[in-house]
Amino acid sequence: MSSNTQNPVLLIGGSGVVGSRAARTLRRLQPGLPITLGVRDVARAQTLARELGGAEAVRINLERRDLGLPETAAFSAVVVLLKDDTLNSMKYAQAKGLPYVSFSDFVFDIGPEVALHIQHPTRSPVLLLGHFLGGTVTLATLHFARAFRRVDAIEIGAVFDEEDMGGPAARGDTERVTKDLPSPLMLKDGRFAWARGEDVYRDFVGVDGAQWRGRAYPLLDVVSLATATEARTVRLDFAVREAASRPSGQGVSHEVIIEITGEREDGTTGRVRHELIDADVHSGLSARGVALAVERLLGLAGGPPVKPGLYHPEGLLDPTSVVERLKEFGTRIRP
Ligand SMILES: NC(=O)c1ccc[n+]([C@@H]2O[C@H](COP(=O)([O-])OP(=O)(O)OC[C@H]3O[C@@H](n4cnc5c(N)ncnc54)[C@H](OP(=O)(O)O)[C@@H]3O)[C@@H](O)[C@H]2O)c1
Repeated sequence: MSSNTQNPVLLIGGSGVVGSRAARTLRRLQPGLPITLGVRDVARAQTLARELGGAEAVRINLERRDLGLPETAAFSAVVVLLKDDTLNSMKYAQAKGLPYVSFSDFVFDIGPEVALHIQHPTRSPVLLLGHFLGGTVTLATLHFARAFRRVDAIEIGAVFDEEDMGGPAARGDTERVTKDLPSPLMLKDGRFAWARGEDVYRDFVGVDGAQWRGRAYPLLDVVSLATATEARTVRLDFAVREAASRPSGQGVSHEVIIEITGEREDGTTGRVRHELIDADVHSGLSARGVALAVERLLGLAGGPPVKPGLYHPEGLLDPTSVVERLKEFGTRIRP
């Protein structure tokens, strides 16, 4: 274990819908790991810090290079659970040589972070984790893809409850992507394309047999899966369930359908379908993805502390182990 891990993990946005769940999951996985919640409203975050134990809340000012923190502040990692369009949190992590996790970038957003890493490639391990559900879907897909000798197509469909939109920061991001930048990236017949027209939509069948019309979404899963496999088609489509059409007695939940086409290890070709069902808001599974990544970056699970470099979740975490952990956390995976 690195001596660095004595210092707290700084969770910027750690009191939010995802952040509070990431903090609780991290506490459950690592009872002795100190946590600092970096926020604007310290009083609100202090309530959570007390519940967590071994935690404190500090005020963060993203406009400042020092984030408004005292010079003596020391952390083991910086995790940013909101869109930091100043890059100051990443500059802070690099200045101190700390692992950095960004969590709120769509596929068209990562240019500035990639450029900052290229400027200082040896300073910090930088994890780009804007992936769907904190990277858990890409990792589960790569686990299922292990049954194939050759993967031809990966099509992922997800159904969200209309009341499962996250907190104000998440709603701001959704508005940003739906209003300003409508073209989603997909890999189609071996070519990356910012889809338009009918290509944007895909019909898929939900876990209960319901028909959904999904809309492609520009998340990093497309590039991760396209580069981690030889697939010629990769896409990710979201549909929204109206609260009124929720089965009676069922609360907010979400489902993910992963379909892979290719040649199996036994030489037969075909399509498989797997389902992930989670009876929590989508932020819960996303937070588990963050917690598993932080544990790994610090060297508290799965290997030694991660060296400086630019990472996606599949470069850090073993897909099969993550699927096992998700089952332990209560996500249903079928078959
Ligand atoms: N990759 C994924 O899987 C995934 C999944 C879900 C959500 N997300 C992203 O995660 C982010 C958080 O979503 P959420 O639903 O948790 O939103 P949220 O409930 O609004 O949480 C935002 C958090 O950030 C803090 N915050 C906001 N502005 C800040 C600032 N300028 N400086 C410091 N702290 C600030 C808030 O506390 P104060 O108000 O006290 O500052 C709060 O703790 C969003 O960007 C969303 O798009 C990613």
